[in-house]
Amino acid sequence: MSLPRLLAVLLCTSAPLTAQVASSALKIEVRRALPADDIPQPALPDTAKLPRVLPVNRQSVYTRCETTLPLIAITFDDGPDPVLTPRLLDLLKQRGIHATFFLVGKNAAAFPEVVRRIVEDGHEVGNHSWSHPLLTQLSAEGVESQLRRTHDAIVKACGTAPLLYRPPYGAVRATQRARIEKSFGYPAILWDVDPQDWQHPRNAQKVYDRIQSQTRPGSIILCHDIHETTIAAMPATLDDLAARGFRFATVTQLIAYTTPPELMGPPAPKHLPMSPLGAPPPATAGEGTAKASE
Ligand code: NI
Repeated sequence: MSLPRLLAVLLCTSAPLTAQVASSALKIEVRRALPADDIPQPALPDTAKLPRVLPVNRQSVYTRCETTLPLIAITFDDGPDPVLTPRLLDLLKQRGIHATFFLVGKNAAAFPEVVRRIVEDGHEVGNHSWSHPLLTQLSAEGVESQLRRTHDAIVKACGTAPLLYRPPYGAVRATQRARIEKSFGYPAILWDVDPQDWQHPRNAQKVYDRIQSQTRPGSIILCHDIHETTIAAMPATLDDLAARGFRFATVTQLIAYTTPPELMGPPAPKHLPMSPLGAPPPATAGEGTAKASE
């Protein structure tokens, strides 16, 4: 091995920082990459103040949003989990990050207090079906029932109606998608960053590595807040994405911010400002989220 090569190897092996990512049940060491991106650092908006209203002329499906700004959305599916989701909410709150949770209806019905906290902490809730079936194998009525029960369970739990859905496994037929959009007004939200955090053997390092390597401006990151390893990977993952210049928005905020103004439709009423970071949204209609009438 030549001297320059040897030096390069030594530098590479000594460079990564080692961070202790601790959770009460699991200790995982995540080797952190050095922030070395050339992402431009334009003036980004205060993500807490971004609109939470979908554009009038939005797309029917999003896998990511087109933007050169380092604005991204991190999403957590299949919860809420009574133990892991609150732990994740603590991590997000400490960092002032707002995420999007695609909730499974039967879990939302079982743990409404967690759903409430998700919304009170300023995150977005989306519909991820009642029992996580493959929608492509269901009748039109079956799909309608899966999404309706979940929509109602979320509204009942937190008073906020979801604006979005994510089909389980990302699978939905075009005809089903059109019906869902007509019935619920939801666009389908897929993803462009997949750490495959559900895969065995589960590994927090791989979750971290895949998210770091795949994320780019406008990305929608797929995670699951029902796995210990995913939660364990989050402190380093979130901190290093932020260190690289990325800023987090909810999916609706990301869509709204990256849609040209001429496609946004009429501006939101002035009396419906975004809630301050960490505070519950104002209990008034509008704001992009229909409220329960109870
Ligand atoms: Ni899922």
